[in-house]
Formats: sequence, C-alpha cells, structure tokens
Amino acid sequence: MSAVAAPIERVGVVGGGIMGCGIAEVCARAGLDVILVEVDSAAADLAEQRIRASLERGVSRGKLEPDAAREALELCRFEPDAGALGDRELVIEAVVENREAKLGVFELLSKTVESGSAILASNTSSIPIVELAAAAGERAPNVLGLHFFNPVPVLALVEVIPSLLTEPDVIERAQAFAEGQLEKDPIVAPDRAGFTVNALLIPYLLSAIRMFEQGLASAEDIDKGMVKGCAHPMGPLALADLIGLDTVLGVSESLYREHREQLFAPPPLLQRLVAANLLGRKTGRGLYSYQ
Ligand code: CAA
Repeated sequence: MSAVAAPIERVGVVGGGIMGCGIAEVCARAGLDVILVEVDSAAADLAEQRIRASLERGVSRGKLEPDAAREALELCRFEPDAGALGDRELVIEAVVENREAKLGVFELLSKTVESGSAILASNTSSIPIVELAAAAGERAPNVLGLHFFNPVPVLALVEVIPSLLTEPDVIERAQAFAEGQLEKDPIVAPDRAGFTVNALLIPYLLSAIRMFEQGLASAEDIDKGMVKGCAHPMGPLALADLIGLDTVLGVSESLYREHREQLFAPPPLLQRLVAANLLGRKTGRGLYSYQ
C-alpha cells in the first residue's frame, strides 16, 4: 500500500462546455484553485455565466450558502491558453467528444504541465483512454479517465478508468480525489468503448430515438413510460437532449466502431438533428423544442 498522497490543490479543466463547467464548478466548490481553458474570451464569458448560473441554482435550492457560491466563483480563473496549466497537479480534459481534438489536447498537456507526477485525466464518454495515454508520450502512466455525469453538481458518480498503462498509484490518487475531495462516489470502469455506464445507457437512448423515428410512439409517451413506469428521473428522449445530441452521436459512433453491433449504430434521425445543429437543450431545440 502506498503512503497517503497529499490532497490536490491546483486543478486545470480544458474545455468550458456543459461538462467542463460542471467539473470546474465542483472542484471550486471543494475549495480548489481552478483554471479553465477556453479558446477565446467569448467562450470564456459563456463558461463563467454557466458556472455562475449553476452556483445560483445551488443557492436557490438550499445546497450552498451565497458566500460559498461567491468564493467558488472567485476560485475559477479563465485562460485562453493551455500554457497557463504549467503548475497544475491534475488536469481534466473536457473538450468536444472528438478523437482528434482530444488526442491534440493530451499531446499538448504532456508538454505544458510541468510536474511529472501530475495526473492527466479525460472526461471522455467513450474514447479509449489508452489512445489518449499514447498521445501523452512519457506521461502515459499518469493518464486515466475521470468521467463525470451531467449535471455534475447533482450526480454523485465518477467513473475512474485506468488504461493498460496507468500506474496503480495514479488510480488510487484519482479515487481519493473524487471521493475524499469532491465527495463523489467513484467506480473503477474498464477501458472499453462506453466504459460501464455509457455501454448500457447509450443503446437504451438510441432504442428510444428509433422507436420515435419509426412513429411507434410519441416522444411524450416514450418519456412518460420510463418516468412513470420505471421511476427514472427523466425519459430517454429528454435525457438525450440534456446530454446533447452531438455527444450522444459521438458516443454511439465510438461504441459502433469498437463493437460493430447494430444496437450501437446511430439512427438517421440523430444524425440529421446533429447535422442541423439541433443539439438539444443547449441550442434550444433537439428532439424537443425549448423555446
Ligand atoms: N447545485 C447543486 N444541487 C443542485 C443544483 C445545483 N446547481 N441543481 C439542482 N440541484 C439539486 C436539487 O437541489 C435537487 O436536490 P434534492 O433532490 O436533494 O432536492 C436535485 O438536484 C434535483 O434538482 P431539481 O429539482 O432542480 O431538478 P429536477 O428534479 O427536475 O431534476 C435532473 C433534474 C437533476 C436533471 C434530473 O432529472 C436527473 O437526474 N435526470 C437524469 C440525468 C442523467 O441521467 N444524467 C446522466 C447523463 S449521462 C452522462 O452525463 C454521461 C455521458 O457521458 C453522456
């Protein structure tokens, strides 16, 4: 058993979309110093607004004191360049669910994060961790998946995904971080497309989209069926819109590429909605309209 590692104090998050903001928020709420990297000031402003709105929601739901929300926001710094991440002890990549984009980030992080013991993690939903590790070259033993669930401040689970190359000590430190510092509930998941949760969740969401696409049931009835009949907090079509249809499509493609099984294949309706940039809640329209 290795000695107990010191808590992580300085965290970097690359990508200020829904997941990157949620991850930055829970880290700041845990009192950590957070740098969020976004490409330009418009994207950084949007990320800051997202975090602020979620903190305000936390206050209005009685989960957090107004002072704690203010302090959490003060702990978040927004930077346009990954060069700002030099002193970080943990960096979590949360850019778009695209293999090339993520490989590029890991290659960059392997050069910009200075400490050889820093953990380089990905919030990917489906891309093999070992490929990201390979892109990080000599840092490969420090690479793993840390997969959060949306909405991050609400959902307790974090999948911790070691690759074949991850050092045991890095896995232990990541678990201790998720559980001891973020107060999440981690599980170790296998490095196969979809890990544990998405390998089960995505085929379910795709089946619901197919059922709707084929005109077998209305969207409302499909969702009502799972909410009222199975006590799910929301139905599969509303959930796909919450996750983002581009992400659902990206995960579906990764799963299909790896397993070649029909149940993972993206339905045409999902492809068309994404092509039309109708991505769900974040664009105001997807399987449902939110305007
Ligand atoms: N900070 C802290 N707590 C918050 C919060 C915030 N910003 N916003 C909401 N909450 C809390 C509320 O206080 C409430 O807590 P209690 O139950 O203790 O009262 C709880 O969260 C629910 O919040 P609301 O009442 O505001 O909202 P709701 O009841 O309509 O639930 C929902 C909304 C949380 C989204 C719920 O419908 C849900 O959990 N849906 C399922 C989401 C899901 O399955 N996500 C996983 C997607 S898969 C994924 O993310 C991985 C991937 O790779 C694709």
